[in-house]
Amino acid sequence: MAQRGKWNSKIGFILAASGSAVGLGNLWRFPYTAGANGGGAFVLLYLASVLIIALPVMMAELSMGRFTQQNPVGAFRAIRDGWLWKGIGYLGVITGVMILSFYSVIAGWTVGYMVKTILGHFRTITPEGVAAQFASFTANPWLQILLLAFFIIITIWIVARGVSGGIEKSSKIMMPILLGILILFVIRSLTLDGAARGIEFYLKPDFSKVTAKTIIAAMGQAFFSLSLGMGAMMTYGSYLKKEENLANAGTWVVILDTCVALLAGFMIFPAIFSQGMDPAQGSGIMFNVIPFLFVNIPGGMFFGPLFFALLALAALTSTISMLEVPVSYMIDQKGWGRKKAAYIIGGIALLIGIPSALSQGAVPALGKLPLFHIDFFGLWDLVWGNLSLSVGAFFIAIFVGYVWKSRKAVEEIRQGSRFALAPVWSFLIKFVSPALILLILLGIFI
Ligand code: TRP
Repeated sequence: MAQRGKWNSKIGFILAASGSAVGLGNLWRFPYTAGANGGGAFVLLYLASVLIIALPVMMAELSMGRFTQQNPVGAFRAIRDGWLWKGIGYLGVITGVMILSFYSVIAGWTVGYMVKTILGHFRTITPEGVAAQFASFTANPWLQILLLAFFIIITIWIVARGVSGGIEKSSKIMMPILLGILILFVIRSLTLDGAARGIEFYLKPDFSKVTAKTIIAAMGQAFFSLSLGMGAMMTYGSYLKKEENLANAGTWVVILDTCVALLAGFMIFPAIFSQGMDPAQGSGIMFNVIPFLFVNIPGGMFFGPLFFALLALAALTSTISMLEVPVSYMIDQKGWGRKKAAYIIGGIALLIGIPSALSQGAVPALGKLPLFHIDFFGLWDLVWGNLSLSVGAFFIAIFVGYVWKSRKAVEEIRQGSRFALAPVWSFLIKFVSPALILLILLGIFI
């Protein structure tokens, strides 16, 4: 077996894992899903999901990864072989490729918008103007494919270079700067006229709007945002040294990720309402709001492109983790070289991503699928970005709670930390997380 890489330090792990977690899921998907699901009530359900469902699953994935030192398929097999568990590992590997395929479309948009801002496309703006620009941008098929390909190729290139060399270094610099600009834009958004109505929408829960769909959206968003349910955190945990404090590192990743998502909401909704735009407008929401946050501030023509550049980098640290899962599987399980695995699997993700790239306006037939009444992108996001992750998280919880046994996981975690909350965690991972995931999944079929 090839020599496995290791993170160089605990902070290196936290940066890489939060680099995986923090991305478009926080800045683009969270506000767009919250907007489409009525605001405040969704936000509360999201926070509840993070705390009682996702955080326990995070510890489960990290401990399983570090214990087995394996990719998801190998990790399950190392503890208990069997078709079901192997199947869950495979599902994770496939889900990684699928999420990479459509996530890279939006990541490509951040690159496109960076260039558009540099070219001065947003010097003067109106809500109708930004919407029209977004529409013509997404309607251009070649541009969409080009941006998708560009993004996946960069991801391939970094993953091909290996774990701590590529992933760790690229996370170290950009996270703090991104946070800084995010805060600047939040302040700008809060000082716009009519910002208060956005805050009200964002923070005041209206439970009359909550349906089974809202609840599953909130839970799925928690998994997506924390990169859980497909073994990405398991894979990252497998590169973690035994003496590191896993409980502490995992908790920091969750805290940081949640703070960034909440800040993104404070950036988007005040500006949306101040411009009289629709909070439920869907996938373009972030791209249509950002211009209003930088055009009229001093240095705006510098902060605008910088924001999109940093967003592209945040997306990159996430796409790296998606590709790393199938690549580590091919390396560990099939004996492929890292380069070969990265290029071939990345290439497949690129091809699979093309319909998603074209479904946002370029090819009308993909924009409204007959059976589902959503576009191809939305369907992929629902199937892979939500359902598959929820199913995966359910089985990971069951596996760690009952097959491997939570007691063994606690032993693993305690190699580097006291983990005083072990009894609480054991209870959550055995009873609460799996039961809630199952109930919520059943809820959408009823
Ligand atoms: N969590 C990332 C984000 O919020 C996306 C992501 C990276 C992801 N790796 C993943 C989502 C693995 C699910 C599974 O942008």
